Amino acid sequence: MNTKQRGRARAYIQHTPRRTGNKQQTTDNCMAIKTKLTEATGIRIPVVQGGMMWVGRAELASAVSNAGGLGILTALTQPTPEDLRKEIRRCRTMTDKPFGVNLTLLPALIPPDYPAYCKVIIEEGIKIVETAGNNPGPVIKTLKGSGIFIIHKCTAIRHALSAQKLGVDMLSIDGFECAGHPGEDDVTGLILLAIAARKLKVPYIASGGFGDGRGLAAALALGAQGINMGSRFMATAEAPIHPNIKQSIVKADERSTALLLRSYRNTTRMYKNEVAKEVVSRENQGVKFEGVRELVAGARGKRVYEEGDDNAGVWTMGQVAGLIDDVPTCQVLLERIEREAEEIIAGNAKMLVGSGGKAKL
Ligand SMILES: Cc1cc2nc3c(=O)[nH]c(=O)nc-3n(C[C@H](O)[C@H](O)[C@H](O)COP(=O)(O)O)c2cc1C
Repeated sequence: MNTKQRGRARAYIQHTPRRTGNKQQTTDNCMAIKTKLTEATGIRIPVVQGGMMWVGRAELASAVSNAGGLGILTALTQPTPEDLRKEIRRCRTMTDKPFGVNLTLLPALIPPDYPAYCKVIIEEGIKIVETAGNNPGPVIKTLKGSGIFIIHKCTAIRHALSAQKLGVDMLSIDGFECAGHPGEDDVTGLILLAIAARKLKVPYIASGGFGDGRGLAAALALGAQGINMGSRFMATAEAPIHPNIKQSIVKADERSTALLLRSYRNTTRMYKNEVAKEVVSRENQGVKFEGVRELVAGARGKRVYEEGDDNAGVWTMGQVAGLIDDVPTCQVLLERIEREAEEIIAGNAKMLVGSGGKAKL
């Protein structure tokens, strides 16, 4: 491999100091991955912890940020905007690193008081917001007006293009594999990201199905500036959910999810338990939403995380469960992802050789 090829292959690896615990290593073989995401947000590892209802609290967001990623508080987990204010302040006592807030725009008959949540986010000096959901225009306009960096998460390229027009700073492209709402198109991340590379002008990160360094390296190869993970962060020491549920994720595999609420065009990927199977069965019988409302109630899902009974209600988890087999701290997880990704990128670079090699056969 000549010097130019090597330089090109390692374009996104820069020699910058890596922090391990409190010690700063500055040896020459110590590298870090530098992307538009790390540069714009001031994080060290290009990994974001996506918004997670009931899970995205200060314990997890601060742990992710302290470990070098971008932790995110989930605004609507807090019952009122004033509770969000308290949670932001609590998170600040737990980390001095950057963290963001997720604001999810739900299709609801009585929507949450979004202007009030935005006001708190602005007043509390939050610099990064992950938006997701329907009709994000007004919220994006308000937050952008205060100079906030917006990462808008979506599951379709047409929605990404609309958000680009609205002036978002970064997109988070969430594939069909993801936990939560994969949308109605059923297009996997591999395709969405490759199309994003061709069509989007705004930088993007890859979301859905990521849990290790191989995934991070693949996302960078697909033109992403980093990855967004949800399920993987649920199974960490600091995630504020019952340990039983972390073990349920460890035991689950890539086939342990089910798609619910498809018949109401609100498809949600959930952990496949008895409640989820009952919802799907009723949907197949053509029941109206009223007929499943009680089964999918948010309060029951909250009980799952609090009491540790994985069959108490429906709760979301992605196909990435097939890659999750331990419950590390966020620090251990992110160091592992970083190291694996660096090794893979450096190893792949060795595939670039001068032409004229002879086949062995
Ligand atoms: C328990 C849980 C709750 C979630 N809640 C939200 C939410 O409230 N808002 C949102 O935008 N995304 C939510 N998500 C989606 C994540 O932010 C992220 O996009 C998704 O988990 C990525 O897929 P992965 O689980 O394969 O990493 C949730 C995911 C999980 C696992």
